[in-house]
Amino acid sequence: MNLLLAPIQSMTTACYRNAFDEIFGGIDKYYSPFIATTDHNRISKSLLKDILPEHNDPYLKVIPQLLGNNGTDFRLFSSAIVELGYDEINWNIGCPFPMVTNKKKGSGLLPYSDMIKEFLDTVCADIDYTLTVKMRLGLNNPEEGMKVMDVLNQYPLGGVIIHARTGNQMYTGKVDLASFEALASACRHNITYNGDITTCNDFFNISRRFPLINNFMLGRGALSDPFLPSAIKGKVVPTENKMSMIKKFHDEIFYYYKNILSGDKHLCDKMKEFWSYLSLHMDKDGKLMKKIKKCHSVSSYFEIVNKVLDNPSMWSDIPNQQEPLLPET
Ligand SMILES: Cc1cc2nc3c(=O)[nH]c(=O)nc-3n(C[C@H](O)[C@H](O)[C@H](O)COP(=O)(O)O)c2cc1C
Repeated sequence: MNLLLAPIQSMTTACYRNAFDEIFGGIDKYYSPFIATTDHNRISKSLLKDILPEHNDPYLKVIPQLLGNNGTDFRLFSSAIVELGYDEINWNIGCPFPMVTNKKKGSGLLPYSDMIKEFLDTVCADIDYTLTVKMRLGLNNPEEGMKVMDVLNQYPLGGVIIHARTGNQMYTGKVDLASFEALASACRHNITYNGDITTCNDFFNISRRFPLINNFMLGRGALSDPFLPSAIKGKVVPTENKMSMIKKFHDEIFYYYKNILSGDKHLCDKMKEFWSYLSLHMDKDGKLMKKIKKCHSVSSYFEIVNKVLDNPSMWSDIPNQQEPLLPET
C-alpha cells in the first residue's frame, strides 16, 4: 500500500516536504504543487524553483506537477523537468478555481475530452518519462469524467489519481464514492484514491470499500495531523511525544520562511496558513487561531505559539486516531 502526499499550493513546498519526511514520514511519494505551463521558449530556473534538486532531499520521491492545456508548452516544461532528473510528471486536470477553470485548465478541461485527446497526442508522442494524471469526477457532473476516462485509456499513462468530487464542489460537500467507483472501474490505469481521508478510520473504510486500490493520496488530513500517514502504516507515536515533533516541524518551516520573506507581516501571514491546518488538533474552540490571525510581529507570534508548542498536553488525538486500524485481510 502506498500513501501519497497531495499537492497543496503554497503549503507542501520543498521545505515542507523535506521537514515532513524527516520528522513524521509515512509518505511514499510527495506531489509538488502545480507549476503552470506557459509559452516561454526558455524556462528560467525560478519557474522550477520548488523542484530544483538543490532544494529537495534526494531521499524523497517527489513528483512534479504541471497545469496547462497546451501540449507544446507542456512538452517544453516536461523536458526541462526531465533534465533535472525526474522520471515522472503529473498533469493537473482537477484544479477547481474559476481563474483556472475559466481558461479551460484544471477541472475546466474535463468537459472537453476532445481537447484532452489533442493534448495527449502531442505530449505522449515519443514520451521519455512516466505521465500520470490527477483529475476530479468531472467539472459539472460525473458523466464528464467518464468521457475523459475513455480518452485517458487510449494513452500509455503511469496512473490516474481521482479526487472523488466534481470541480464545482470545490473542496466542500461530500466525496461521491459511488461515482468514484464507476470511474475507477472504467479506468485501465493504476488508480489512486483521493479525498477526505482525515483519520485512520476514514482510511480503513475507504480501503475496505475499494479492496483493489493500493494507492491513497492524503491532503488536508495529513496537513492537520502529520502523524496520520505513519499511523495508517501502523506506527504509533505516544501522544505525549507529539508536541516536541510538532515544535521541530514548526521551527524548520518558520526559520526557512524567516530567511526568504522580508518583514514580520509576511512571515506571520505565512505561518497563519501553516496553523490553519495544524490548529485542528490543538484549538477546539478556535481561540488559538483567532490570536494567531491578529499577530503582525514575530515577538507577539512567539508569545502565543510557544505556549502551545511547549505544552505536550495541547495535542489531542481525535478518537480512533491512536490505534492504527488496518483493513481486515
Ligand atoms: C489550498 C489548496 C491548494 C491545493 N493545491 C493543489 C495543487 O497545486 N495541485 C493539485 O493537484 N491539487 C491541489 N489541491 C487539491 C489537493 O491536492 C487534494 O486533491 C484535495 O485537497 C482533496 O484531498 P484531501 O481531502 O485529502 O485534502 C489543493 C487543495 C487545497 C485545499
